[in-house]
Amino acid sequence: MNNAFGLDIGSETIKIMQLVKKGAKPRVVAAGVAKNPLLGFISTNEKEITPLAEAIKLLRKESGVTTALVTASMPERSVFIQTIEVPKMTEKELGQAILLQAESVIPKPMSEVSFDWRTIEDEKTQKEGKLKVLIIAAPLVLTEGYLKVLRLAGLDPLSLESESLALTRFIQTTIGKKNILVFSWGMKSADIIVIKNGDFYLNRSLSGTGEALTRAINIGLGLDVPSAEQYKKTYGLSSEAEGKVGKTIQPLLETLVNEIKKAVNFFEEKEQEKIPMMILTGGSSLLSGAAEYFTKTLGLEVQIANPFYGLTVAPDFLETLRKDTPIFSVVTGLAAKEI
Ligand SMILES: Nc1ncnc2c1ncn2[C@@H]1O[C@H](COP(=O)(O)OP(=O)(O)OP(=O)(O)O)[C@@H](O)[C@H]1O
Ligand SMILES: [Mg+2]
Repeated sequence: MNNAFGLDIGSETIKIMQLVKKGAKPRVVAAGVAKNPLLGFISTNEKEITPLAEAIKLLRKESGVTTALVTASMPERSVFIQTIEVPKMTEKELGQAILLQAESVIPKPMSEVSFDWRTIEDEKTQKEGKLKVLIIAAPLVLTEGYLKVLRLAGLDPLSLESESLALTRFIQTTIGKKNILVFSWGMKSADIIVIKNGDFYLNRSLSGTGEALTRAINIGLGLDVPSAEQYKKTYGLSSEAEGKVGKTIQPLLETLVNEIKKAVNFFEEKEQEKIPMMILTGGSSLLSGAAEYFTKTLGLEVQIANPFYGLTVAPDFLETLRKDTPIFSVVTGLAAKEI
């Protein structure tokens, strides 16, 4: 099997990780993080994306990645991913039936997307005499932009994947086959991913992103954006500074809680199964008091992701990466794909 490394090109930070299979837990042989100079911008224009390619090249060199083969992610909000159900049929008929259904749910013409599908084992669907199928479509302009950046960085792209599928693999390899809601909270992302028995179930992209929190503080407290960002990181939901930061972002948090509750209720009613736990990932999960707030308002067990828990990591690595731990969840799932 190919040993590819994982690359998560986030809007604020680029994360890199290479794993090798050794013993019970995969071993981290390279990992690192760097700023994204383009803050999430991507295009197929070589001149525009060269600074990003250079940053990736440097990060790969500095973190000691030993292969050019890469599995990279694309932002969840730009990828269409859904499970559909089709009647049981022969393999030959299946491809055609899936394509037909996909055409009716994918919000873009099939000629403008790169399309993929795979079947999912699901007892309930099987009992109903049907097959559950995961369909994935990414706009071609987006995949072309990412492939161009990767090649400019001197890499050999093996696959591009949606963040939710990387996170699903991350949960499978660290927690196992469980029902879990992942809340992936970065700079431009606030994504709900519901996982059923270790497999992707549904996703939703919300507007209460890390950037939106900063913007609320910027407007609410009349601070410039860099100071608002600093206030957010220093005070979060703590009662310090009279809890002013917390009060400013409260409406955004309430919207997030409502959307998360809706996703949990939808799942529990449809599947007649429980989601006992939420995993918080991404840099915004470092918001002071966030885990406690969500535990209280959602009535779920909430944990901040610790991707290094399921991996063997050299102590010096752990020391340098520890403060950023939850931001490595997507890249861990990517790195675990081809080892
Ligand atoms: N201590 C903290 N408190 C609150 N927010 C924080 C803290 N540390 C980092 N953040 C926020 O985390 C976000 C960056 O997280 P991350 O690196 O996971 O994003 P990204 O993967 O680059 O972005 P995206 O996935 O949205 O494209 C920023 O919005 C930043 O303000
Ligand atoms: Mg991210």
